[in-house]
Amino acid sequence: MYYGELVRLRALEMEDLDIILKYFNNLEIRQYLNNQIPMSRNAEQQWLERATKLDPWRDGAMTLAIEDKKAGQFLGTVSLFNISKQNKRAEFGIAIHNPENLGKGFGTDATLVMLWVAFHVLGLNSVYLVTLDMNKRGQRAYEKAGFRKAGVHRQGAFVNGAFQDFIVMDILKDEFFKSYPAGTVVGEP
Ligand SMILES: CC(C)(COP(=O)(O)OP(=O)(O)OC[C@H]1O[C@@H](n2cnc3c(N)ncnc32)[C@H](O)[C@@H]1OP(=O)(O)O)[C@@H](O)C(=O)NCCC(=O)NCCS
Repeated sequence: MYYGELVRLRALEMEDLDIILKYFNNLEIRQYLNNQIPMSRNAEQQWLERATKLDPWRDGAMTLAIEDKKAGQFLGTVSLFNISKQNKRAEFGIAIHNPENLGKGFGTDATLVMLWVAFHVLGLNSVYLVTLDMNKRGQRAYEKAGFRKAGVHRQGAFVNGAFQDFIVMDILKDEFFKSYPAGTVVGEP
């Protein structure tokens, strides 16, 4: 549906449940999501049932599946949430599920495509995210996609036995449009 250089973003389907369960209950990934509680099939199915029906304007959220464009393989999910119509603003979230697929450029590309959706499809003005200070890989990927550090929420998270800071990053529509003006796309099908 929406294409980058390496990935395609498409609607989530109930058929994605098995592959999500296969990789997502994994501390290597989940430590970065500030959510280390195991996800049961029942809970994941309920989450997916809701996620497959989300409407960004009605529900204030939108979650898409990230697929490897070449292999057609499910890689994870990317979201816009806390969408505010009044402020034309959303929060961004992403997770590549299989650790073997980290650090291969998929996350940067999926972030770029979701920003394109935020600014070119939804018409938002700003997108922000919070990420753990220890998530240097994430911060580098977000920076490559155009996010800039906006601030620090000190000791906002308790992870791996210690409090640590959340880094806040953001990007404005005008900044994104310098690289991707109206009429341009991130990648081709
Ligand atoms: C965060 C995430 C989406 C990034 O996607 P990714 O595909 O792994 O990242 P990319 O390969 O696109 O880019 C990673 C960049 O970080 C760099 N990097 C990797 N480890 C790093 C480290 N410890 N310190 C600094 N930079 C690092 C890579 O070299 C690369 O930059 P480069 O292209 O300039 O060399 C992905 O790692 C992920 O889903 N992680 C687990 C869950 C998570 O963290 N979600 C986000 C929560 S806010």
